[in-house]
Amino acid sequence: MCWRRLPSGPVTLAAGGTRVEIDDAGEGPGAAVVGDLPPNSRLSLDVAWLGGKKRLRFKTLPSPPGELLYRFATVNDIHIGDRAFGMYRGMAEPPGTEPPFPWRCATAALQEAVEWGAESIVVKGDLTRAGRPREWASVGRLLASQPIPVDIILGNHDVQRTAPDARPLLAEHGIKVPIEPFFRDVPGLRLVFGHTAAQGARKGAIDEAQRRAVAELCAAADGPAFVALHHYLQRFRMTTMWPPGVPGPQADAFLDAIEAANPATIVATGHSHRHRRHSRHAIVTAEIGSTKDYPGTWAGYAVHEGGIRQVVRRVARPDAMAWTERTRRAMFGIWGYWSPGLRTHRCFTHVWPTRGER
Ligand SMILES: [Fe+2]
Ligand SMILES: [Fe+2]
Repeated sequence: MCWRRLPSGPVTLAAGGTRVEIDDAGEGPGAAVVGDLPPNSRLSLDVAWLGGKKRLRFKTLPSPPGELLYRFATVNDIHIGDRAFGMYRGMAEPPGTEPPFPWRCATAALQEAVEWGAESIVVKGDLTRAGRPREWASVGRLLASQPIPVDIILGNHDVQRTAPDARPLLAEHGIKVPIEPFFRDVPGLRLVFGHTAAQGARKGAIDEAQRRAVAELCAAADGPAFVALHHYLQRFRMTTMWPPGVPGPQADAFLDAIEAANPATIVATGHSHRHRRHSRHAIVTAEIGSTKDYPGTWAGYAVHEGGIRQVVRRVARPDAMAWTERTRRAMFGIWGYWSPGLRTHRCFTHVWPTRGER
């Protein structure tokens, strides 16, 4: 549960037999997890404070079929090195604010994902503002200090025309980013990493070699696959929103190749800094927002024998949320409505189709 402001004094949240006590939420926005709830249930959340109470109703997601096999989390667009957000007159923190907001949001997101039970982390590009060595030094320090394995793909900001090659800089921290598409097999799933960002290009591209290589990695999986990309997949050839993604014809050819290779595949992207879910035949595609601008999120995936559950969570640490709440007002307030998308696009259960079934 997230709030912009709670009444002062103690507040109790209660749902499905779980109670969470908040001593004093303070002035600003915050969040609390009311966990251990039964799946696929209509429940009420009772919020009680000194002199008042409120009942909110909600429904929990169904569990995917079969046993829980593995949990992992993704972050993207952490943009270490950014000092402002917004297209026109960017909003910024007072000069000298330390640590700056991208660092606060990224460190909090990773910490919260590990506490949630993620067994590995996937970082889907735009780790830096401009791919500068100083930014990579921070990124390397941040990711090398994680207690679980981390896999990375690069975004357009990381491979800007003037940026040096990130790979040797990351290798200094023990982080390897293969040039070709690569994979990691985990219980119940193959994680596949594709590259859509080319040096000096803002928009994404998936050429025939890339498409084939990713499809082959999906086809060779023992079971389902999860494909991580930086750029989102456009519906049309023309870009209809900022920033541009992978043009529609390339995107459709890619999804069709993935489906033919392994229909039990889900594709997750970043770059758009917003949340959307699309389907093309059997393949579900999920765009996930940035850690550092509204709503400021990471995604948790629960891998079961028969499907996968995606839950997008806001980065909850107060010093991160104080910033992300502020960025809601970007683009004359439109950003706050545009970026979150529908809850059903952020949080859903996907049951794997069997191979050969549409
Ligand atoms: Fe980005
Ligand atoms: Fe990007």
